[in-house]
Amino acid sequence: KSPRLRLRVDQEKCQGHARCKSLAPELFELDEYGNAHEVGDGSVPAGLEDKAWLAQANCPEIAIEVTEE
Ligand code: F3S
Repeated sequence: KSPRLRLRVDQEKCQGHARCKSLAPELFELDEYGNAHEVGDGSVPAGLEDKAWLAQANCPEIAIEVTEE
């Protein structure tokens, strides 16, 4: 069984590139400034792990942290 993932967007680093939202719309929401936030508490639902890693890898600001729980 794969580990549960949790993600977090570092607001100090996010510059609103929105690639995360394009790649994993289930996991991110954009605020009125265009900066991304994790949906809910950041827990990644089963089946969306690959999207979480993909979003992390594609953020130009390295603003997305993914941790295994
Ligand atoms: Fe921000 Fe990176 Fe997404 S800069 S909007 S977390 S792609």
